[in-house]
Amino acid sequence: MAAAPVGAAPGARRARWSLRRRLVAVVLGLVLLVGLAMGTVSTLALRDSLVAQVDARAVAAAERAVRATQGARSGGDDTAPAGRPDLAPRGDRPPPLGVPGQDVGTVSLVRTDGATRAQYIDADASFVDLSAAQVAALQDVPADGAVHSVDLDGLGTYRAVALVTEGDDLVVNALPTAAVDATVEQYVVIEVLAAVGALLVAAVGGSLLVRHELRPLTRVAATAARVAEQPLGHGEVAITARVDERDTDPGTEVGQVGAALNRMLGHVEQALAQRHESESQVRRFVADASHELRTPLASIRGYTELVRRSPDELPPDALAALARVEAESVRMTALVDDLLLLARLDAGRPLDREPVDVAALAVDAVADAHAAGPDHDWRLDLPGDGADGGEPDDDLTVLGDDHRLRQVLANLTSNARRHTPPGTRVTVGVRRDGPDVVLTVADDGPGVPPELRDRLFQRFTRGDASRNRAAGSTGLGLAIAHAVVTAHGGTLTCTSAPGRTQFVARVPAAPP
Ligand SMILES: Nc1ncnc2c1ncn2[C@@H]1O[C@H](COP(=O)(O)OP(=O)(O)O)[C@@H](O)[C@H]1O
Ligand SMILES: [Mg+2]
Repeated sequence: MAAAPVGAAPGARRARWSLRRRLVAVVLGLVLLVGLAMGTVSTLALRDSLVAQVDARAVAAAERAVRATQGARSGGDDTAPAGRPDLAPRGDRPPPLGVPGQDVGTVSLVRTDGATRAQYIDADASFVDLSAAQVAALQDVPADGAVHSVDLDGLGTYRAVALVTEGDDLVVNALPTAAVDATVEQYVVIEVLAAVGALLVAAVGGSLLVRHELRPLTRVAATAARVAEQPLGHGEVAITARVDERDTDPGTEVGQVGAALNRMLGHVEQALAQRHESESQVRRFVADASHELRTPLASIRGYTELVRRSPDELPPDALAALARVEAESVRMTALVDDLLLLARLDAGRPLDREPVDVAALAVDAVADAHAAGPDHDWRLDLPGDGADGGEPDDDLTVLGDDHRLRQVLANLTSNARRHTPPGTRVTVGVRRDGPDVVLTVADDGPGVPPELRDRLFQRFTRGDASRNRAAGSTGLGLAIAHAVVTAHGGTLTCTSAPGRTQFVARVPAAPP
């Protein structure tokens, strides 16, 4: 009798990131992308510009060297560096490597008449000879006056310019790019640090901003959740929850959602009020109709009885017909009473709330049932009544309506009598279970027909119609029992299988 859960099957949807997480992730992604692009472009530009400077210096160094070499050949002495007479070119000496104005780290190679000399200026401004491999690498530089990159084994990467002098000498000058690489490296480190900082700021700032911006949405969702928790199933329900005024600004997206939700809640409330109104009308109608039917039914019963009291004047056929009329009017009176009671229970009419000893009710119910159905095997099962004959251990009192609770028991026992064959054992039990008094009516009859089990407590649910109608069945007995027990704050359930049918009513016990 449990309702199937409404909504999407769990697990059908893969867990997704919240909007906040996604927004922050997008912001971080964009910051990272922009940072990468800017970093790459600026690093390349910086590198290009630094290399261009080195190139310019390399070209200048090469030109100085060429001039010095040509000067040496023509015997001039204008290229002797100050204080370095040993470097002063002389006609009988090979052209100098040491040319004024050359930087530390400058590599020079001069090849004259087949003789090649190559040195570089180290940090102490001394000249250091190059190895054969380094010389070979320098000699491979195309002598086109353009700047080329050379890898000098052990010295690193150089920008080299090779020129041929008018005297057909080869002059190669190269400057190291180590400083450029170091500068670029440092720049990249700074950039990475700055990017990490920017990412952190974007993460924290973005997260705070998104949280702040989404707060109205959270409030709107909270309102919707509050309404969703409200029981709207039946009765008079007022949906008082509304989205706050500040979250309904139509200028913002969230405000539109809030305003739409408010409009929807208004409509739902109106619809529910209408539903309640029409429900109450129907209920009033049923109650009024049942009430109105009681008086004419009483008259019919009275008059038939009156006529039957003077049997001499009537033929036997008419007497039999009158007996039918009387029986049917009795049945109809019971039906009308049931309908009236249900209508009143539906309307939520307050019940009596007096202490009722359920054990005493059970004793009476079993006695009545035994009188009505002597062919059944009636049993009573109360706690503490047994061999020792002691007092019942537990308090089996509930607060409620004695008359209505009797009716519950009468309906359950009459069902056990009428829907089972003679000889069936029926046990009426009362026990205490924690805060509840539990009343059970169990039989070992054939059980409730399976097609009825899902709607057993609904009105006009009954088994095999013709047979039951002949036995005075209305299909309202269990509906009434259910409504009465529910009105007492309790539950009525049924478990049924062939050979074991049990109705269990659980009602909160009276406070001690
Ligand atoms: N103890 C029982 N054993 C078998 N069937 C039952 C029992 N109690 C109820 N039923 C089934 O449930 C139906 C509904 O019961 P109820 O609401 O009391 O209506 P009614 O007794 O007037 O038919 C019955 O018609 C019967 O088919
Ligand atoms: Mg019944």
